Amino acid sequence: MRSRVAVIGAGTMGHGIAYAAALAGCDVRITDARADSLPAALAKIDGLLEGGVKRGKLTGAERAAVRARVATEPELRPALGDADVIIEAVVEDLAVKQRLFIDVERTAPPDALLASNTSSLSIAAIAATLAQPARLVGMHFFNPVHVMKLVEVVTHGAASLPAAERAVAFARQLGKEPIVVRDSPGFASSRLGVVLGLEAMRMLEQDVASAEDIDKAMELGYNHPMGPLKLTDLVGLDVRLAIAEYLYKTLGKSQYEPPRILRDKVKQGELGKKTGKGFYTWSD
Ligand SMILES: NC(=O)c1ccc[n+]([C@@H]2O[C@H](COP(=O)([O-])OP(=O)(O)OC[C@H]3O[C@@H](n4cnc5c(N)ncnc54)[C@H](O)[C@@H]3O)[C@@H](O)[C@H]2O)c1
Repeated sequence: MRSRVAVIGAGTMGHGIAYAAALAGCDVRITDARADSLPAALAKIDGLLEGGVKRGKLTGAERAAVRARVATEPELRPALGDADVIIEAVVEDLAVKQRLFIDVERTAPPDALLASNTSSLSIAAIAATLAQPARLVGMHFFNPVHVMKLVEVVTHGAASLPAAERAVAFARQLGKEPIVVRDSPGFASSRLGVVLGLEAMRMLEQDVASAEDIDKAMELGYNHPMGPLKLTDLVGLDVRLAIAEYLYKTLGKSQYEPPRILRDKVKQGELGKKTGKGFYTWSD
């Protein structure tokens, strides 16, 4: 039987996870607290499918079949309905995620795997409010989801082994490469990656080089596929700021202190690619 996947949060990550799951043959329902994000997510999925056809990766018939497996649902309860796997990709805010998972646990089928796509927050803290914390693990996908191979499966003290094993198997089903990481701030990826991104911003503040040249230093000098400032634009400056604030608070190390330029840009609504401007100017 096809896996049934519910994705909560239809933003940058939610639509990407939904697309990857539908592409892998799962039936997917996407839900969001803001109903107007649902058509936007579907439009982005249509764009990804279109790109797949143009690059010769998908036939027209496959595109139609994948699209037919994706549905949107503004209400949480019917969205979770008969899901086997439920992935949360809402705003990076512990209290919001805790509240949401209380509702999810009440509503979801009792044997559904619960997963959070948080980039940095403690999975144990999110799970702490659940009657059965063992059901929840982290499944940290990367942006853009259809391109990036890695999924961090995050386990915590109260997580069950079967939940982690299911998450690993599900990540593989989606064609991803899972790694298993113990719950600790920023896991393996954000804890390292954020340091690089924040330092690049400090270098920009200090006029060491232009954004383009700082990025080129990492791309050409260290063989990173994308420089840290461009990557921050793709991730979203607001998302990066929330992660940096959390890591600064939990790890207490100065390298995680958000630079002024990041705070200012977020205040001005320059959130990166999704708003058309961040460290770069973007057009569609
Ligand atoms: N952006 C990235 O590169 C990236 C990478 C990996 C993980 N993440 C993580 O994924 C999560 C989502 O990030 P994003 O970049 O997709 O954010 P986003 O702002 O693009 O989308 C978040 C969506 O969640 C919705 N939402 C907020 N509260 C909700 C609620 N209570 N119930 C249902 N929907 C709600 C919002 O309306 C919005 O559509 C965050 O935890 C983030 O840290 C982000």
